[in-house]
Amino acid sequence: MQAYAPGRVELLGNHTDYNDGVVLAAAIDRGITLEGDLSGNGIILLTSNGEQVRHDLEYRWPEPLTHSTWANYPLGVVRMLLEEGYEISGFSATISSNLMTGAGLSSSAALEVATCLLIEKLAGFSLEPMARAKLCRRAENEFVGVNCGLLDQASSVFGAENAAIHLDCRAETVETVPFPEGFALLITNSGVKHELTGGEYNERRNQCFEAASILGVKALRDTTSAALLAADMPDVTRRRALHVTGEIERVQAGVQMLKAGDGNGFGRLMFESHESSRKNFENSTPELDALVEIARSTAGVFGSRLTGGGFGGATVSLIDPQQADAIIARFAEEYQKITGITCQTYLTTLAEGAH
Ligand code: GLA
Repeated sequence: MQAYAPGRVELLGNHTDYNDGVVLAAAIDRGITLEGDLSGNGIILLTSNGEQVRHDLEYRWPEPLTHSTWANYPLGVVRMLLEEGYEISGFSATISSNLMTGAGLSSSAALEVATCLLIEKLAGFSLEPMARAKLCRRAENEFVGVNCGLLDQASSVFGAENAAIHLDCRAETVETVPFPEGFALLITNSGVKHELTGGEYNERRNQCFEAASILGVKALRDTTSAALLAADMPDVTRRRALHVTGEIERVQAGVQMLKAGDGNGFGRLMFESHESSRKNFENSTPELDALVEIARSTAGVFGSRLTGGGFGGATVSLIDPQQADAIIARFAEEYQKITGITCQTYLTTLAEGAH
């Protein structure tokens, strides 16, 4: 039995998910595949890159590992399914991936979602898609210990061919928005991942919660950039919050632009989004900024921004597919000149979610 779950690219709506906001994202055409079988004897056997992790369910439920930590994603899903009362016997699964690592394309969510789907198929039960995304997010929050929002898991579950997904993290609903013809997405890995991500991510998250509490609202979803500008709060808190409200406003505008086929307008919103990351949220890096600046001066590029958590990883650019070769060559050459780093670039299609 095989289960596959894709990585994702965030198009607009940076750090809005844990603020009850809205996001535009897409599943990409690369991901993680699990090849597995039932074993029936209570033993879970996970294999990745020639390394094996074995867990015997007869004795206890899985606990987070401090070695072979890649196994915490599938084991976390097992644990959450058990906690929710699903019966799981043993199974074996071999993990393979064609996702770039360290680029922030959510290989962890893809691994969680593929695991959940594989277990569902093997054990003969089936979760509703949103319940699957939420269970995988719980695995990441409670078992792996990363406080992410719903974006990554929901994108991997709900991805649709040639469509962006518009996720409302408060209503927990997804709308698919057809992607306009004549535009393509180019992902460029800056090759630099700042390993501070965990701490910085939580710090930003807390600053957002602090701003909401100063304003007396449940979440930043419940306020506007105008209200933030008028409120009395520390400058840094205001800038963090302005990024989130600005992103929510850009998602709302971006959905209309996609529907109207306005790739130029959507691209402008992507540049604005990056500018706000750089100035307000300070989750960009010199390398990501260099990539976006190069994009801005390259013919055939409509917009570009960092994608995902930030502090390194990749940018996503909206481009004219007819000019892709010249764009990729220019990105590589200019980025090498500025940073001395060879960037990895790849043109993705907007792809189907987990299956
Ligand atoms: C990471 C998290 C997501 C989301 C993004 C930023 O990818 O896992 O939940 O917060 O950062 O939008």
